[in-house]
Amino acid sequence: MDLKSLIRDIPDFPKPGILFRDVTTLLSDPVGLRYTIDLLAQKCSEIELEVDYIIGMESRGFIFGAPVAYKLGAGFIPVRKKGKLPAAVHAIEYQLEYGIDTLEVHQDALVPGSKVLIVDDLIATGGTAEATAKLVQKIECELVGFGFIIELRDLQGRKHLPDVPIISLVEY
Ligand code: PRP
Ligand code: ADE
Repeated sequence: MDLKSLIRDIPDFPKPGILFRDVTTLLSDPVGLRYTIDLLAQKCSEIELEVDYIIGMESRGFIFGAPVAYKLGAGFIPVRKKGKLPAAVHAIEYQLEYGIDTLEVHQDALVPGSKVLIVDDLIATGGTAEATAKLVQKIECELVGFGFIIELRDLQGRKHLPDVPIISLVEY
């Protein structure tokens, strides 16, 4: 299936010069959505069959991460933007393609030593994924890999990530 044909390009969003890869058009396509989740889950299971948790980043990482966790029989852990999680958190600041932000995870969300896979819709500069990997480190879990729908190759985000398998379904 041609996933690129279901992803919409919006120039100059959210800032001039950014070509925004919009997955809402992929999500609203029933066949495309199922195909995407099935393929991502299959590729993630090839990295590690017995994953304990999928971690997904707010907000588009939730949409893809939770169904992948369901398919793999893993738990799902939300990594959220600052101030959204109710219990004690680990926090980390990070740089976005278009700004700076803070990500947080509950300190007691994962059992230390667990196997964790990070899932998001897209890797651009890699700042979000790198920050999330550092949160996984803080909780003393084992990061086994990353799964993305989209990779923006020119931004070389993967060079900021730890040396574990990185999956992307579509490259620009
Ligand atoms: C987007 C995207 C990734 C991140 C990738 O999220 O969903 O999480 O940017 O960029 P990076 O590789 O340069 O860090 P965003 O922070 O825009 O939040 P959203 O999912 O809530 O729109
Ligand atoms: N997140 C960071 N860069 C992005 C882009 N170009 N399109 C969609 N989401 C993004």
